Amino acid sequence: MSATDYVLGQSERAARRLALQDQHFAAPSEALLDALALKPGDRVVELGCGAGAFTRRILNRLGANGVVVGVDSSASFLEHAKDSLGQHGGTRFKPTLADVAKPGAWLDGADVVTGRAVLHHVPMAEFLLGKLRAILRPGTRIGFLEPDFRSPLAKIAHLEATGRPELAPLLVWAKAINDLYAAWRISPSVGATLAQTLETAGYQNVRHAWHEFPTDATVIDNILMIYDEVRDTYASLGILSLAEIDEQQKLLRALPVGALPAVWGLHQVTALV
Ligand SMILES: C[S@@+](CC[C@H](N)C(=O)[O-])C[C@H]1O[C@@H](n2cnc3c(N)ncnc32)[C@H](O)[C@@H]1O
Repeated sequence: MSATDYVLGQSERAARRLALQDQHFAAPSEALLDALALKPGDRVVELGCGAGAFTRRILNRLGANGVVVGVDSSASFLEHAKDSLGQHGGTRFKPTLADVAKPGAWLDGADVVTGRAVLHHVPMAEFLLGKLRAILRPGTRIGFLEPDFRSPLAKIAHLEATGRPELAPLLVWAKAINDLYAAWRISPSVGATLAQTLETAGYQNVRHAWHEFPTDATVIDNILMIYDEVRDTYASLGILSLAEIDEQQKLLRALPVGALPAVWGLHQVTALV
């Protein structure tokens, strides 16, 4: 596997899943953009822009002279982003095919470097963050939203052990995704240590916030779609068989939406170079 292989899908359906995910990431995404204090003329470098859902939110904060350099290792996601942003992006959106783990000229002139749900796909993301501090101009604002598929699990395990056995499929899903990330040698909870990582690396004004969103119908749909995207991978790695995935999807569909604890959340971390 190379650093630019992406553990989940890159298809049309995967792009639709990222658009759905944008709905439950809405409030944390806007909170991150508030914390980054975007100015109309900023040059924003977005790491792992994917199909452009977070890019759209960034562009909404910029004026006619603002620019988003959207960097991604997937040519098909960049095409989706360009198409879906259309006129809204126009010349303000600069799609850039690159591996974010290898900083390049695309960082030149950045006022802001940001990313949503990307660092946990980068092996040893700490190396990238250290390199960025060496390259970026002092005063550059950086900020990330990173998911955490571990911290909420003790609460769910406690609930399951104290009268909520129906929550088991949430734990099975979380364990499977952790096993997948372990197989790919990436961290499903890099966000949990991100603030400390940036402090230790010498970044200034490090701020951290934790966002949870309830496991509502859109979150369950996302989980079902993740199963669809990676079912063959799970089977080939021995994480879950196809029959087990079918069973888990059935159990997930039967869950009482509206009375479910959060199964994952997002760390928001901002800092200054
Ligand atoms: C979970 S998606 C998030 C997409 C987008 N940020 C969003 O929130 O909708 C992760 C994205 O990071 C990209 N990615 C993963 N590893 C990468 C790398 N090493 N270099 C560039 N892009 C990468 C993937 O192709 C994918 O588009």
